[in-house]
Amino acid sequence: MRLTILGGGGFRVPLVYGALLRDRAEGRVTHITLHDLDGARLNAIARVLADQGAGVPDAPSVTVTTDLDEALRGADFVFSAIRVGGLEGRAADERVALAEGVLGQETVGAGGIAYGLRTVPVAVDIARRVARLSPGAWVINFTNPAGLVTEAMSRHLGDRVIGICDSPVGLGRRVARVLGVADPARARLDYVGLNHLGWLRGVYADEGSGTGAGAVNLLPALFEDESALTSFEEGRLFGAEWLRSLGSVPNEYLHYYYFNRETVTAYREAKQTRGAFLRDQQARFYDGMAERTSAEGALAAWDHTRAEREATYMAENREAAGAGERAADDLESGGYEYVALALMRAIARDEQATLILNVRNGTTLPLLDEDAVVEVPCLVGATGARPVAVSPLTGHEAGLVAAVKAVERCVLEAGESGSARAAVKAFALHPLVDSVGVARRLLDGYRSAHPGLGYLRSGA
Ligand code: G6P
Ligand code: MN
Repeated sequence: MRLTILGGGGFRVPLVYGALLRDRAEGRVTHITLHDLDGARLNAIARVLADQGAGVPDAPSVTVTTDLDEALRGADFVFSAIRVGGLEGRAADERVALAEGVLGQETVGAGGIAYGLRTVPVAVDIARRVARLSPGAWVINFTNPAGLVTEAMSRHLGDRVIGICDSPVGLGRRVARVLGVADPARARLDYVGLNHLGWLRGVYADEGSGTGAGAVNLLPALFEDESALTSFEEGRLFGAEWLRSLGSVPNEYLHYYYFNRETVTAYREAKQTRGAFLRDQQARFYDGMAERTSAEGALAAWDHTRAEREATYMAENREAAGAGERAADDLESGGYEYVALALMRAIARDEQATLILNVRNGTTLPLLDEDAVVEVPCLVGATGARPVAVSPLTGHEAGLVAAVKAVERCVLEAGESGSARAAVKAFALHPLVDSVGVARRLLDGYRSAHPGLGYLRSGA
């Protein structure tokens, strides 16, 4: 089994490799090809993997390349985790939006639109190459904004591309734990929405035993229990009272919507934005790695940087909400790489696992057309991922999902046709951008900040 990782010099690649090293079952990945545009980053990550794999029998072999077509040929799975424009680009996405007084965030609001506009043409190019060079491969997309990018790629790869995110899994795991479900992986989660815009509306497990996918919805009991409500991340972030009002548990990214004013203020007042912090932190890591001559100690250096990164994840939101530190067990990884691996296994071994994934809607949500990529629980086996039934969206959920999907469609149109008008429309229609004038200035600001947006033509 051959896995190709695009963005192979990326910081999270060792998480995936670590999960692969622990996988001893038949049909596991035996070879990894890391692809990246940046050879120095590739070498740095290859050293960490060498240190990780030292002494592990049958560790998957690793090759590196900067040639995309070479990386894609012969792949069974292609894992795409690229960052177009790098962390410098992420910092600019945040800065330009915040200067206009609107949210600048990696995937949400104006920042997410700018990131999408940069990424769609690149993702489409990758999808076309996969279709030509490795038509039988499954593409697992983690490239953000993941829902939008998965939809762009699905126009060329159909259901062969599946988008992943760790946030719904983390949410499900945290809530199931609070509800006393013994095996969260076996509970049926009624979760639905778009990537980074979803709600958990039900947790179905056998009452008492806490295992199996029984018919009892345990979630309503959570809203009766004040101390349980504030004992997990989303509860502290949104507050017990707001969760009761919603009657669901929102994805943590909805904090940017429900507390937009507070997060924008916190982001503007922060010493550094998240993107700028990570740009500097990661540069120190990669520079340090470039000075190394061997793999020894590379894993420890990586792990130190990883711990700091995780501890500061969404720190401004938590501060704005008075939520305090993130709980220690939320810092344990097992999110992102867990979903990627569980998905690969379920396809390769026809395991019939249920995972929350980004796939084409089909007839799941009547509100959206069949090709719209949504984030829903899916049954996964050898033939891919098929959405399972979820309860209907409430009026509020439907409103936000429809509004944000309309924005995504404008980004896709701009990315595919080069229309600057569609790009302005994307910014202007977003619920977190409050004026068409602001939208126009945002596009101007982003065009000066990002050479990669030069493809957008005015008057078109
Ligand atoms: C979660 C989200 C990802 C996002 C990441 C940002 O894992 O699911 O989509 O990219 O957080 O974390 P960072 O440490 O880069 O701010
Ligand atoms: Mn995500």
